[in-house]
Amino acid sequence: MLHAFHEREGFVSDDALRAIAEGLSIPLADLYATVTFYHHLSRVPSGHEAPRVCTGPICRLRGGSELLAAMQKDGATPMPCSGRCDQPVPVLVGDRTLVGSSADGLEARPSPLPEPNPGGIEECLFAAIREPGRATIDGYVATGGYEGLRKALAMSPEQVVDVVTESKLAGRGGAGFPTGVKWKAVADAQGAPKTVVCNADEGEPGCFKDRALMDHDPHAVIEGMVTAAWATGAVRGFLYLRYEYPETLAILERALVEAREAGWVGCGVGGVDGFDFEVHIRRGAGAYICGEEGSLLNSLEGKHPFPRNRPPFPVTHGYEDLPTAVNNVETLASIGPILRNGAEWYRGLGLGEHAGTKIISLSGDVQRSGNYEVPLGLPLSTLIHEWAGGPGAGRTVQAVTMAGLSGGFLAREDLDVTLDDPAIKARGSFLGAGGIMVFDDTRDIVAVAHSAMEFFAHESCGKCFPCRIGTQRLTERLTSGGEAAGPGNLADWKGEVADIGDVMKSTSACGLGIAAPLITDSLMRYFPDEVARHVAARAGEME
Ligand SMILES: Cc1cc2nc3c(=O)[nH]c(=O)nc-3n(C[C@H](O)[C@H](O)[C@H](O)COP(=O)(O)O)c2cc1C
Ligand code: SF4
Repeated sequence: MLHAFHEREGFVSDDALRAIAEGLSIPLADLYATVTFYHHLSRVPSGHEAPRVCTGPICRLRGGSELLAAMQKDGATPMPCSGRCDQPVPVLVGDRTLVGSSADGLEARPSPLPEPNPGGIEECLFAAIREPGRATIDGYVATGGYEGLRKALAMSPEQVVDVVTESKLAGRGGAGFPTGVKWKAVADAQGAPKTVVCNADEGEPGCFKDRALMDHDPHAVIEGMVTAAWATGAVRGFLYLRYEYPETLAILERALVEAREAGWVGCGVGGVDGFDFEVHIRRGAGAYICGEEGSLLNSLEGKHPFPRNRPPFPVTHGYEDLPTAVNNVETLASIGPILRNGAEWYRGLGLGEHAGTKIISLSGDVQRSGNYEVPLGLPLSTLIHEWAGGPGAGRTVQAVTMAGLSGGFLAREDLDVTLDDPAIKARGSFLGAGGIMVFDDTRDIVAVAHSAMEFFAHESCGKCFPCRIGTQRLTERLTSGGEAAGPGNLADWKGEVADIGDVMKSTSACGLGIAAPLITDSLMRYFPDEVARHVAARAGEME
């Protein structure tokens, strides 16, 4: 309803707020809190059309802040990473995304197709994505699409769950939970109707793989959702799409119409009597926390998007408190090929004992940024230097961020890590959704850490105080100058920063507050000299 008012009137007016509050019997103050929580719901006239300029970590390297300053006379406001780190700086204007590096050089551009890997290594998700017409149902079917679902429908739901379990596919949205185990829990749970939710919020800075999949292979996502419904007994599906992807919305809507016409969505899916499954697309309104599954479910239900306490988990108490499978876009897009080619085939795509593949969104100081589907277990340095051409001539890699920003930095000897969770966890980080941002030796790493923490402080939902206050305090400690920057004595500064981080990690209510201190932990571990210089500059100021 808020979206409808926002689009029709260009903003959410006081009258609209009052009408919705009265109509839905929501206290006006609660509704006001929710409207102002979302970045893109404007409270001022023509706010819907006001430009939003990306100032995410990579866009800052490319002049995003300067572009924002130049466009401020047009009413432009900053926007956190909008998932286009493989393109020039994006500017969202109404329902269009333009990219460019100057205010008069902005243009609409389709999202780039992923490049094939130079080693000719077999892919799962990208194997057919470059085929012409793949985004249409005809092109999709001509390249093996919906064959996996056809096979699934010839099996019992239990057999489908077994194949997915045997494939060792694990969630690609961040937490890495085994998909087959999740589906079995939903299938076994009491309560109906059951729901499948595709998490297409992709708010993690440095991640843009779900957009590539949805733009170029929308039917793969739909096929995955329908297969999940068959396996779990769900009858309704939601795809929760981040606000910043308006072009993707149009692509998905078109694909859904095609899928419905072809009988893959709706009543009697695939000709199976009694298998009914509807898919609805819902748009976010700009809030990183809405990618967290509990927050996403609250947002879907029209509630204030705070994360939910766990347990109970969504598998038993999800959408409307009923059993729900929440899965990431990439997880779901892997399902068709797994059913088509078998669990053993998928497992075999990884290197050594690692099963399957992962899309890495690689950006920053490399010659060829983009989405790469890597076999799990590939050395990070192979990806950066051989596949993506490494940093510019004469430059070296100073650090990378992992899991977008949530995994903190890896640097020095840890850049030889292999891309699989056990190896990355052993270095104190995690792979998460697979965003990797590269920073070369010219970059001010404390400034990068500062902007990362500022992002977490901005996006902290405020439900629990360790995160709400902790992200704020850590941002201040990374600020140059001012009282709030903390002690000028290095040992005290480090002690305080470690202390705040420890409290956040042990007491925050969701992954945001638990992950944010990885930024400061890894900064102190890899960059003691830069930290010492930062603190000394502050001490000098105090003298
Ligand atoms: C702060 C935060 C943000 C998240 N954002 C996303 C997101 O944008 N997309 C996503 O798929 N998962 C995101 N997740 C993970 C989801 O909570 C959930 O684990 C995932 O959607 C489950 O799907 P999967 O098992 O297929 O990965 C986020 C988690 C946290 C804590
Ligand atoms: S950890 Fe942060 S984002 Fe998560 S519930 Fe607490 S305040 Fe909200």
